[in-house]
Amino acid sequence: MQQLRGRPQGACPGSAAAAAQQQRRPAALPPRRAAPRRAAPAAPALSRPAAPGAAPRSRVRAAAATDGVPAGRAPAAPEARPPSPGGAGSDVDADGAPCDLSNLDQGCQDYNLPDNDWEHSSLSICVLGASGDLAKKKIFPALFALYYEGLLPPNVQFYGYARTKMSDEAFREMIGGTLACRIDARERCGEAQEKFLQRCFYQAGSYDQAAGFSALSVRMASQEAVLPRANRIFFLSIPPNVFLDAAGNAADVASSRTGWTRVIVEKPFGRDAASSRELADGLSRHLSEDQIYRIDHYLGKELIENLTVLRFSNSVFEPLWSRQHIRNVQVIFSEDFGTEGRGGYFDRYGIIRDVIQNHLLQILALFAMEQPVSLDAEDIRNEKVKVLRSMKVVGPEDVVVGQYRARGKLPGYLDDDTVPKGSLTPTFAAVAMFIDNARWDGVPFLLKAGKALHRRYAEIRVQFRHVPGNLYRSKQGSNLDAHTNELVIRIQPQEAIYLKINNKVPGLGLRLDTSRLDLQYNTAYQQAALPDAYERLLLDVVQGDKRLFIRADELEAAWSLYTPLLHSLERQKVAPELYPYGSRGPVGAHYLAAKYGVRWGDLNEEEDE
Ligand code: NDP
Ligand code: BG6
Repeated sequence: MQQLRGRPQGACPGSAAAAAQQQRRPAALPPRRAAPRRAAPAAPALSRPAAPGAAPRSRVRAAAATDGVPAGRAPAAPEARPPSPGGAGSDVDADGAPCDLSNLDQGCQDYNLPDNDWEHSSLSICVLGASGDLAKKKIFPALFALYYEGLLPPNVQFYGYARTKMSDEAFREMIGGTLACRIDARERCGEAQEKFLQRCFYQAGSYDQAAGFSALSVRMASQEAVLPRANRIFFLSIPPNVFLDAAGNAADVASSRTGWTRVIVEKPFGRDAASSRELADGLSRHLSEDQIYRIDHYLGKELIENLTVLRFSNSVFEPLWSRQHIRNVQVIFSEDFGTEGRGGYFDRYGIIRDVIQNHLLQILALFAMEQPVSLDAEDIRNEKVKVLRSMKVVGPEDVVVGQYRARGKLPGYLDDDTVPKGSLTPTFAAVAMFIDNARWDGVPFLLKAGKALHRRYAEIRVQFRHVPGNLYRSKQGSNLDAHTNELVIRIQPQEAIYLKINNKVPGLGLRLDTSRLDLQYNTAYQQAALPDAYERLLLDVVQGDKRLFIRADELEAAWSLYTPLLHSLERQKVAPELYPYGSRGPVGAHYLAAKYGVRWGDLNEEEDE
């Protein structure tokens, strides 16, 4: 049976179990996601393995707008209720057959939440730094989306923690303004939001003192007391200078005593190899590696998750995936806005640390890794770390750095009041990297990232080799590059995968042009919107699936590739090449690519359009 990850599991329509479920279903069920109109993708896309060592799956009704346990209900005295008959992870819902692809939207309402016995466990999710930008912009909206879709366990509560003084009501007001119903805004969205907000609580406190965490823990416990076991997640959405204090206090003072405690750490994971190690050592004094989830939200993006599916479930790609056929690979990140509002943070890091050393390098590792033994987190991460450890350390000759300057009314980087005068921090960088292994020897991997450029997009471009002994050469002119096959994986916006091919222009005569075999997500998959990366990643933390999170040795390998370069840029005070706000970045990036016989594919694209 194929099992859709995060999709309902329950009784089949028409079965007695389905009828029973129908009766149990409260009036305010959340709207169910419409079944995809086209054939579902191959199993690996959606069916994911349970976390290694996970107990067998347990089926229970999930929390949603249905509200299994009303928020704010006076907690029952903690009682030592025995675990379910089969013990943790036993199949507690004996009803009916599980859902499959044919009956997803016809009456299945139970959810598979592995590794937990959610009938007897509660879940508390606490965002540290809840008054901040990321919490408002991403984390609470993602939590609401999971709640709205019924993907969280029945007894789930959400907490905000920060120094700012706020009542629960003020907190609800603050995050209430950011919630949106992605799937279908018409169906009881407001009602669902209200129910979600009733499960949200706020605790003010400092990050470096135990008292606030202790008060938080007491509040959590009072909500958790209705069930014998409590699981807790802390999301560190705070600046790095308070990371260790907050993680230490959360772990030492507010850990669950009856279930698991997991801590999500947002980047930056240090500024270089040494500071990253220091952070890792600090965290390891309070938490085991198992408990730490280092988030790289690019790994949660739909097209990045699809990378392994594309490679390993299609026989047409894998044979081409090597130096024999691929001339170069480009990973490009472009934003059409500057650091407005985040200049203070950004200036300490710069674009290499902010985007290249993590997001783009992670994409590269996934792209280039060997086929893992299985889809288990450790097998995938083992392969990624091998790629990183096979890479050449980046030298100054293989990088170009830039910084945006004002253009017209658009401010330059140095015009930002939070940026120190005369800062040399790069807001743009292009880097050539190489993997010294049999598959990729000599193939340039070009990474490019910049802020305040002309467009916002992120994509992977795979440029294939020229056709040997090309029969049609005389028809294609002298620019061979313009006629080589290119596979483009557009991560955002307008997610797409397309392959540029040479094709005969229909009609008499023999004229060739370049066309696309084109998979545009918005037309191929008619769903309202793709889930945000934070939704996927938060759900993975609940499920204990670490496949999309960075392991300590991966992080160390990533830093070792960039630390010498970063130190040398800073030591030598290398002045970035200036580029105007809204431009395509510094011209040096073209010279860097040309040094390896490469032309950036995104330039061709603009010519095509
Ligand atoms: P903020 O700067 O908004 O900080 C979050 C909260 O932390 C603030 O509301 C504030 O809450 C507290 N805080 C801020 N500065 C300090 C300080 N110097 N000492 C103690 N507490 C402080 O951060 P973001 O929400 O933007 O980001 C959170 C984390 O996520 C950071 O590590 C950031 O690098 C990372 N990140 C952010 C992204 C984004 O788009 N915003 C993207 C990717 C990563 P209070 O004063 O109430 O305690
Ligand atoms: C963050 C960076 O990690 O990713 C930001 O710190 C950047 O500088 C952001 O803007 C981009 O993320 P997304 O998902 O909007 O492409």
